[in-house]
Amino acid sequence: MQPESASPQLASPARVKRSLPDLTHPELTSSGAPLVMVTAYDYPGARHAEAAGVDLILVGDSLGNVVLGYDSTAPVTLADMIHHGKAVRRGAPNTFLVVDLPFGTYHAGVTDAMRHAVRVIQETGADAVKMEGSTPEVLDVVRVLSRNGVPVMGHVGLMPQTAAAQGGLRVQGKDDDSARRTLEGAVALQEAGAFAVVLEAIPARLARLISERLSVATIGIGAGVHCDGQVLVYHDLLGLYEGEEKKIAKRYADLGREAREAIAHYAAEVRAREFPSKDNSFVMKDEVLDKLY
Ligand code: KIV
Repeated sequence: MQPESASPQLASPARVKRSLPDLTHPELTSSGAPLVMVTAYDYPGARHAEAAGVDLILVGDSLGNVVLGYDSTAPVTLADMIHHGKAVRRGAPNTFLVVDLPFGTYHAGVTDAMRHAVRVIQETGADAVKMEGSTPEVLDVVRVLSRNGVPVMGHVGLMPQTAAAQGGLRVQGKDDDSARRTLEGAVALQEAGAFAVVLEAIPARLARLISERLSVATIGIGAGVHCDGQVLVYHDLLGLYEGEEKKIAKRYADLGREAREAIAHYAAEVRAREFPSKDNSFVMKDEVLDKLY
């Protein structure tokens, strides 16, 4: 019988964690199926993702928007990423875990970036870090980190950390300049040692060309079906984030509506004294109570 006071946490089912070579060249694995990545920011989300059997979990700095309530990713700190990364690792001990380096933590030179990346790896137990962009400074960082045992996932196309400089949160790679920059950036990231590159909000045909040019995996979000993998933000996928459905995402559930309805139902039952019921209440012997009167 279960004790009245607590319900035990279920252990994560044993599973084989994807290795870096599997992830770098997914076409060489036995299934050859596209890689599946989803973001997670906390213990329960990580447990759901691992139980669903995703290949990679990303603790994205989209944390700032979907969990912390900021209107951009810029305010997210290294401490925020480490705090949430640790919780995700506890929930998904057997899934390849990537943690975003937030804005400003890899822009002040390679020594600084290395120190921050090592903190993320050591303190969260992540398998890799992700960073945005392909400027010469970022490429230097990718080169040094990957040569020194810190796997790096790159990110080109729409880059939320510097979206203001890109003219806002808008699709990239549509004109000559932007398409060439995106292609060359992805190739440069691979040459610098990135084991995979996220392609965000770029035309599907450009993503296809980049995926053909790169030998490492491309992981798309709003980049069409020809990438080597796909990533979605947890809150978008589950309908937890209010607002219109984004073109780059698909809602597979409407848990936000379910949550609102459930909380409203709870409130109504409390107000009607229907909750807690007998089933939710603890009992005591009459003689113990009588002594108190
Ligand atoms: O921060 C994030 O969630 C991301 C994904 C959208 C790739 O970078």
